[in-house]
Amino acid sequence: MCGIVAYLGQKEAYPILLGGLHRLEYRGYDSAGIALMQSSGITMYKKKGRVDELQKFCNNLDTSGSLGIAHTRWATHGEPSEQNAHPHVSEDGSMALIHNGIVENYIILKQQLVNQGVIFQSDTDTEVLVHLIKNVQDKEKVSLPEAVIIALRMVEGTYAIAIISKDDPNQLIVAKKGTPLLIGIGDNEYIIGSDGAPIVEYTKQVIYLEDGDVGVIRIDKPIQISNVNDSKNLHRSPYIQTLELNLEQLEKGGFDTYMLKEIYEQPKAVRDSMRGRINLEKDVVSLGGILEYEQKMLNARRFIIVACGTSWHAGLVAEHLFETLVRVPVEVEYASEFRYRNPVIYEDDVLIAISQSGETADTLAAVEIGKKRGATVIGICNVVGSTMARETMAGSYSHAGPEIGVACTKTFTAQITVLALMALSLAKKKGTISMSQYHKLINDLESAPDKIESVLHYEQQIQRIAQYVATKPNAMFLGRGVNFPIALEGALKLKEISYIHAEGYPAAEIKHGPIALIDTNMPVIVVAPEQHTYDKVVSNIQEIIARKGTIISIVTEGDSVIKKMSKFTIEVPKIDELLTPLVTTIPLQILAYHVALIRDCDVDKPRNLAKSVSVE
Ligand code: G6P
Repeated sequence: MCGIVAYLGQKEAYPILLGGLHRLEYRGYDSAGIALMQSSGITMYKKKGRVDELQKFCNNLDTSGSLGIAHTRWATHGEPSEQNAHPHVSEDGSMALIHNGIVENYIILKQQLVNQGVIFQSDTDTEVLVHLIKNVQDKEKVSLPEAVIIALRMVEGTYAIAIISKDDPNQLIVAKKGTPLLIGIGDNEYIIGSDGAPIVEYTKQVIYLEDGDVGVIRIDKPIQISNVNDSKNLHRSPYIQTLELNLEQLEKGGFDTYMLKEIYEQPKAVRDSMRGRINLEKDVVSLGGILEYEQKMLNARRFIIVACGTSWHAGLVAEHLFETLVRVPVEVEYASEFRYRNPVIYEDDVLIAISQSGETADTLAAVEIGKKRGATVIGICNVVGSTMARETMAGSYSHAGPEIGVACTKTFTAQITVLALMALSLAKKKGTISMSQYHKLINDLESAPDKIESVLHYEQQIQRIAQYVATKPNAMFLGRGVNFPIALEGALKLKEISYIHAEGYPAAEIKHGPIALIDTNMPVIVVAPEQHTYDKVVSNIQEIIARKGTIISIVTEGDSVIKKMSKFTIEVPKIDELLTPLVTTIPLQILAYHVALIRDCDVDKPRNLAKSVSVE
């Protein structure tokens, strides 16, 4: 959600903080702020809107100082405004704090502080933290690090925080619970980030804080880390790891937007997600990360897939892959619903959590439930070292590389690839797949990157379709079988980035209601490659045409039937039916992209959204 960056070192902090904010903006972008330790005390600049607004505002202002904290916000409590932007300061202005997460008991804490005469400036939950810490420090007459530990013991919820205080202008304090925080260790300098993006330019040596950790960072002393759950306040030696991230991966590489770059990176992302996992000589598919739990997966009574957003759509595709190939029942659940439903979970269930970021709060909560109830919990995520990677028993990375555009593209196709490999490997070992089908699917999977590449060549043609769709207030996406989730994903992409209202439906289902919406003004995008329900989809299209709906179709190369019924058609290469999502989803991504551009929307940072939703 929100992006956090902090700096302590010998250099000017401001350019480093600002650069970090730009890199973190995909996490939230409704307001931004910065606090710098200067000789006169803490100076703070905040602005509603993008980081660019803050930068413009700071031009010609005094931004000196080699210690500072900065934040880009995705509003939870309190509307986007200067007042609600972080940092938040203590009443006397001597302490400033930035926060990512949610203080769940903030109402009670706030009331207690108000009763003691504290005056709040914002509507945020975060402001409670700075007043609480200050209050503890003043009352208990303890050092700031001690006050932070005592205060955080009273806090329920999640936090990644960074604090500076005029009382000790050479000290930076950080803490985390339930949402990530990394300390980058440079040459006589420290760069703190809510992920690796603001750090990698300066160092690859990082400490991932654990839940409950409080870190005290100074130039003149080694970092001290203690944990709020440790009543003895003992310090532990930090474990330094290497950040698996490259700077080039965070740049646009000649593309106008991250989203377009990431759409075009899909052949590589899919290739990378298969790399080293298919051994043709030995005729095996093997996902190293799950080997230890493979027997549990082979004996699974049921697979429960939990995820949110686009990852949930990948889960729906996996339902087809696993049920068809592995012949074990699959349930696909919205993590946010699953976690509050008291679900029935058996010890021989395997719960597979899918997440690009590995930080989605609801998906992580579902992982915890799975573990508590004794299921085997497997993760599929993209961000190396993420909370999900650490909290699941085993898992596989999707290896798509960093995704910055808020709307998922390459991570979706990479997730499907990993899920297909997982299903194939289990199916072969269980003997639920014929060897000819197994070999055909491997062959087709290996051909997918080239096939995706060939669909990318249709961008101009799709641009023309976008001209048409961009003039409409609504759109309907239809698909069947393994392409129903692709219809959902197509609709999600369009609404996320172009703000056109769109719905995805199983094609046969529209006669039970949505057909009432069909008229000349409703574009109906039908995902209809060669598949066993093709003829049924043809009938569904007839029903729409009879009601004067306009058909835009995604079909297999050489199609003659549906093409004739469509106003526009995009042809995708032939691939095994189970793998068609890998190619049919591409034109829908490009379509949403161009509709959004025509409508002058910010495709990389769509309104109200954030890339990683670390609050529930
Ligand atoms: C947010 C993003 C979506 C994403 C969803 C799940 O809503 O905007 O694009 O699909 O979170 O994220 P995850 O990181 O768990 O895949």
